[in-house]
Amino acid sequence: MKITKPIEDILNKQIAYEFEAAYAYLSLAAALGSTPYAGFAHWMRLQYEEELEHAMKLFDYIQERQGCVKLLKFEYPTYTIKTPLEAFKIAYDLEVENTQHIHDAYALSLKENDLPSQVFLQWYITEQVEEEDNCQKMIEALELAGTSLGALFTLDRQAGSRK
Ligand code: FEO
Repeated sequence: MKITKPIEDILNKQIAYEFEAAYAYLSLAAALGSTPYAGFAHWMRLQYEEELEHAMKLFDYIQERQGCVKLLKFEYPTYTIKTPLEAFKIAYDLEVENTQHIHDAYALSLKENDLPSQVFLQWYITEQVEEEDNCQKMIEALELAGTSLGALFTLDRQAGSRK
């Protein structure tokens, strides 16, 4: 069954939000790349790649439903951060905002009685819970570490082992 126009529109917007998130993570990777925290920079870069996958999953889904993909403009965030904690707070806020966008899309799929989109978007709902949690856990660990260079070094190494 062909996708309805309102669903097509909101999913095209979501593609732009995912690209915006990807770009934000890449920007955070760049900012952390000019600090000694290579592990956190690596973490952000992997998250950039995940966000691209999220965008392309939407791209493919719209086409599978005989919809039309439209690449919309998005914000180009750049950050000048001084600490990993600042970077993860930005990332967390970004994820909370993205969760709201996903929930809006899901609410519309209910209104449109679009069952395939409901199933499709459930994957994103679960993913957002995980992504918010990942950022929140990192914030808590960084707050605990405070200014202890040893603790920060350990966390950086852990972040750098992300696959
Ligand atoms: Fe694609 Fe981090 O949400």
